[in-house]
Amino acid sequence: MIAAKKICIALMVLASANTAFAETPVSLVSGYAAEAAKAAPGFTPSAKRGQSFFIKEWSVSQKMPNCTVCHGKNLKIDGKHVITDKRIDPLAPAANPERFTSTAKVEKWFKRNCKEVVGRECTAAEKADFIQFVIQGEQS
Ligand code: HEC
Repeated sequence: MIAAKKICIALMVLASANTAFAETPVSLVSGYAAEAAKAAPGFTPSAKRGQSFFIKEWSVSQKMPNCTVCHGKNLKIDGKHVITDKRIDPLAPAANPERFTSTAKVEKWFKRNCKEVVGRECTAAEKADFIQFVIQGEQS
């Protein structure tokens, strides 16, 4: 009985740990796309739009006019923080498997970076497009 209870608790702990890190880049895109489709029925994520978003000169902030000043233009190599000079791991999951596996992390950084660069929070559609682009890589 006691052993069964212990196993049960262990399983519960495992299950809750899993929900925190169970995301994949693809499942995150689906989640944001479903949210975006509520406002725009038929919404389909677009890597091309994601790329335009990534390189767009928002110029809201002089120091951080776009995403690439920190993440660089090549998603598969390290970026460098424009203010602190700290190295930033590549954004592409192909080069960095930890990317886009935690909703909490993704939300935290979208919130911070979008506010600084875009001057507002990003929409679900922008997030879906962006991650789609990060998965697929450069669009011609
Ligand atoms: C001022 C520098 C800076 C700018 C500009 C910037 N970022 Fe970031 N970004 C960071 C840092 C630092 C991290 C967290 C460190 C890490 O994960 O390597 C991060 C992490 C992220 C993550 C988390 C990815 C994950 O799951 O690991 C996303 C998403 C992201 N940035 C998107 C953006 C987008 C979109 C823009 C443009 C709107 C942008 N960033 C502009 C510095 C920046």
